[in-house]
Amino acid sequence: DATPEIDLALFGAMGDLAMRKLYPALYNLDRDGLLAAETRVLGLARQEIDGDAFRQRVEEALDKYLKPGNLDQQCVKRFIARLEYIQLDFATVEGYEAIREWREGVSRPMTVYLAVPAAIYGDICGNLEASESLDNQSRVVVEKPIGYDLESSQEINDAIGAVFPEERIYRIDHYLGKETVQNLIALRFANPLFGNQWNQNQISHVEITVAEQVGIEGRWGYFDKAGQLRDMVQNHLLQLLCLIAMDPPSNLDADAIRDEKVKVLKALKPFSRDSIGRDVVRGQYTAGSIDGTSVPGYLDEEGSDTESRTETFVAMKTEVANWRWAGVPFYLRTGKRMPDKLSQIIIHFRQQPHYIFDPDQRDLAANKLIIRLQPEEGIALQVLTKDGGLDKGMRLRPGPLHLDFNSAFPKSRIPDAYERLLLEVMKGQQYLFVRRDEIEHAWRWCDKLVAGWAERDIPPRRYPAGSWGPVASIAMITKDGRSWYEDY
Ligand code: BG6
Repeated sequence: DATPEIDLALFGAMGDLAMRKLYPALYNLDRDGLLAAETRVLGLARQEIDGDAFRQRVEEALDKYLKPGNLDQQCVKRFIARLEYIQLDFATVEGYEAIREWREGVSRPMTVYLAVPAAIYGDICGNLEASESLDNQSRVVVEKPIGYDLESSQEINDAIGAVFPEERIYRIDHYLGKETVQNLIALRFANPLFGNQWNQNQISHVEITVAEQVGIEGRWGYFDKAGQLRDMVQNHLLQLLCLIAMDPPSNLDADAIRDEKVKVLKALKPFSRDSIGRDVVRGQYTAGSIDGTSVPGYLDEEGSDTESRTETFVAMKTEVANWRWAGVPFYLRTGKRMPDKLSQIIIHFRQQPHYIFDPDQRDLAANKLIIRLQPEEGIALQVLTKDGGLDKGMRLRPGPLHLDFNSAFPKSRIPDAYERLLLEVMKGQQYLFVRRDEIEHAWRWCDKLVAGWAERDIPPRRYPAGSWGPVASIAMITKDGRSWYEDY
């Protein structure tokens, strides 16, 4: 289907997100013929520059952030010609009339993209309304983090909601735009093989690892207030967990999917005082090395406060307390400064009820479904076969049935998450965006955990940069007779 045309008003047009992600994504859509000919982009920022200087900056960003093979000068020219710029102080209503003027005589819908801190979402929405820049088709796209806890997220959502109705609010969790994350829906609901096995009768436990090599990348001010729980678990990991744990939606409509995700969030078992000590490990990295290069510890990062107890790593064992999942642990872990950038989900199936092979190999004897989100997107099902050779008797050998997306579909480029998300916004489809109640239920659960940490006053455990986290996170799972899947 042809992509509908839109006018995109981008607040934060000179910022890092816009330069690194949004212009490259829009350019790629344009190059692939997925931007309507009339679609325009209005950059809005505080900087006093003119349109030409702005277009120049965007062109430099495309050069810097796109793979050279993706740059076609003809397309760059076409894309750049869509861009205009208005200098604006977002906080006061003066100047906003320029947006209305930009829109004069145009009937296509306007989408407002807020690539700015959430603290000013309310001001911007109010000023857009007061300056009569909006109409009853206008949409708004907002970035995480939406708040710091339930209360602050409600304030932000109220401010946006006072101007835009829920069906025109697009809250981004960029993990939902990743190709393999959407594949979770196809995998689970298009394949009876998995659909019928997806419950506590067949699955013994689930692992979700989102490991990052990066540290905090000069974002101390933001990160130190947030920590890895708010930065990664409240949104990305819980969204992954929801897609794994939710019941089949009755169709692919946004609300059918989101209703099911909300049920999972409501069923997440809250941590108790005891279980926080037993089933949650917080960590903070110390100096170490990544790929052979020394890196400083968290407390020596630029702008740091040496007393900080903010966590850069969390591992936890949680449970979705419902009929499908009762008794099945979900082990989650995520951290900065780990040895690899790696996101994967492992579904561990139960063992056969009766085991007839070599007792030494008993630990092997369960199938695993390994879903690799990044890098090298793919899905592998680990099955057991007989080891080859006359001398092996009935020895077993695990091996993967492997689908590697890059080699299986060599002609199709795996798009960046933002390409998919921007396209869905243009089409007016919300299924890859987070509904207000999802965010709020996720905060409710996280807030309890944060309160428990504060009450117990547990400092984070140290782990050297370049390791897989504090030893306690390994002990947390080995005491259940299991281990983190390690075939990296
Ligand atoms: C962001 C976090 O939401 O996700 C960052 O704020 C994190 O701290 C990033 O590094 C990870 O995203 P990705 O796509 O690189 O896995």
